[in-house]
Amino acid sequence: MTLILGLESSCDETAAALVDSKRRILAHRVAGQEAEHSPYGGVVPEIAARAHVDRLAPIVEGVLADAGVSLADVDAIAATAGPGLIGGVMVGLVTGKALAHAANKPLIAVNHLEGHALSPRLADPDLEFPYLLLLVSGGHCQLLLVKGVGDYRRLATTIDDAAGEAFDKTAKLLGLGYPGGPAVERVAKDGNPHAVPLPRPLVGSAEPHFSFAGLKSAVARAAASGEHGVPDLAASFQQAVVDCLVDRSRIALAACPDATAFVVAGGVAANGAIRGALTDLAARFDKAFVAPPLWLCTDNGAMIAWAGAERFAAGLTDDLGVAARPRWPLDPAAETVRGAGVKA
Ligand code: KG4
Ligand code: ZN
Repeated sequence: MTLILGLESSCDETAAALVDSKRRILAHRVAGQEAEHSPYGGVVPEIAARAHVDRLAPIVEGVLADAGVSLADVDAIAATAGPGLIGGVMVGLVTGKALAHAANKPLIAVNHLEGHALSPRLADPDLEFPYLLLLVSGGHCQLLLVKGVGDYRRLATTIDDAAGEAFDKTAKLLGLGYPGGPAVERVAKDGNPHAVPLPRPLVGSAEPHFSFAGLKSAVARAAASGEHGVPDLAASFQQAVVDCLVDRSRIALAACPDATAFVVAGGVAANGAIRGALTDLAARFDKAFVAPPLWLCTDNGAMIAWAGAERFAAGLTDDLGVAARPRWPLDPAAETVRGAGVKA
């Protein structure tokens, strides 16, 4: 049995957790930054990095106290080393290095995307490799075949915005505030998903890539026309995203007959309409559908600690010179998709 301390600070959540190799979450704490970023309608990297500096050390002390353990009881320290907002990533990685050095423990530099990709196995002990993963967050929208720890095949990515980014930008233009995803979902419950005609970018194309920039612009035009209320705009936007995710995932499922399950992770997986539609899709392919609990879908320390536990079990640790990486693709062999240069 090994005990891993995990640190996460790549975006706007400061988080730490203690997770053991038997999938027990001994403690976890997350501090969001809504108050800091909401005046700007999105995450301001400099403000995020400063907030991580203020909060990370007390959060680490907090999880150790919650679990009643000390650093000496921990077997390794896992920290997100990218991809993400580089200031925040550096805060978490340097904190992890300092703790590892001071306590003389191994360091594990975790790819944030691997944290999301493996988190379903923390929640579900029966989930076996390989599985098809739809990773939908504020920074990423990818379909990945998860073949093993550190072994990923990327089937698709977004050629422009991520799905969560589209939710956040749509919320901003509809005046719904930040973070946008939960706000859009809430308002959409009072709207008609078929009221506003909106495009479904790339639906029907042979490769399962994503695109959301045109959808967001279409919502902006429909809103500016003054013909539709905010609930109908939100519901129709959400329905268009659902249709895109379902169509693209369908192509990927057809291409991966050996996948043991269809898994969704990342913050957007918290959306009830999206979860419902993906559950139905998995059933059509006779695949188990796995979605981690909501708190494990959005950024947290437990997913980093668990990815650390999986890497530690595989003998994968890092030296203290490991670099923080703003971009870090899970599948280095995946071709660059036109227009997708800014996404990892
Ligand atoms: O995984 P995550 O916490 O952070 C990133 O790594 O990006 O995902 C955050 C994203 C945000 O864009 C947020 O608006 C979106 O997930 N999100 C949602 C919902 N809850 C969070 N999108 C749609 N519906 C939701 N209920
Ligand atoms: Zn994330």
